[in-house]
Amino acid sequence: MVRLLAISGSLRQASSNSILLRATERLCPEGISVAHYEGIGELPHFNPDLLEDPPEAVIELCSIIGQADGLLFSCPEYARGIPGSFKNMLDWLVSNEEFPGKPVALFNASPRASHAQAALRLVLETMSARIIEEASITVNLLSNRSSAESIATDPVMGPLIGTALGAFKRRLENQSL
Ligand SMILES: Cc1cc2nc3c(=O)[nH]c(=O)nc-3n(C[C@H](O)[C@H](O)[C@H](O)COP(=O)(O)O)c2cc1C
Repeated sequence: MVRLLAISGSLRQASSNSILLRATERLCPEGISVAHYEGIGELPHFNPDLLEDPPEAVIELCSIIGQADGLLFSCPEYARGIPGSFKNMLDWLVSNEEFPGKPVALFNASPRASHAQAALRLVLETMSARIIEEASITVNLLSNRSSAESIATDPVMGPLIGTALGAFKRRLENQSL
């Protein structure tokens, strides 16, 4: 079983990025499980002084990241950048031993969000994550009030997500051969 951990970069209740990640669950091919980490809003502000004795929420984050075979991020753009709460989570993971080499698929709910995507790639590359291009997709949820169900059954988005998940699974299986 390939274990994916999905993390949305938005704290918003009706977040399009979170809904996109919820839709992936419905489209999971056999042999993949998707868990969701929804704790980014509870993480304290990153402070290198705290790394020696990290807060409980950070220990939990690192443990959950460590258990995942691959990460699935979907992050919005705020003021042409990465939302602070999501970047804060990444800052906690910079010195995490498990993070370098971690396979990451980037889902993007807005074709307009190009600056945040570019910034996110730069940050993840700096952290030595492995971005899996064939598992990274952009859909347009900006103008429609979608539900996870309607995304999963959409004739364009559904197959796009399913194909990305399949490609992610193949890459994760091949790396452990
Ligand atoms: C404070 C703020 C700043 C934003 N800045 C941008 C931006 O620079 N570029 C952009 O394309 N969208 C921007 N947006 C729009 C959001 O990316 C858009 O509302 C997106 O749907 C938010 O993601 P969510 O639905 O997952 O919460 C901004 C929204 C907010 C609230």
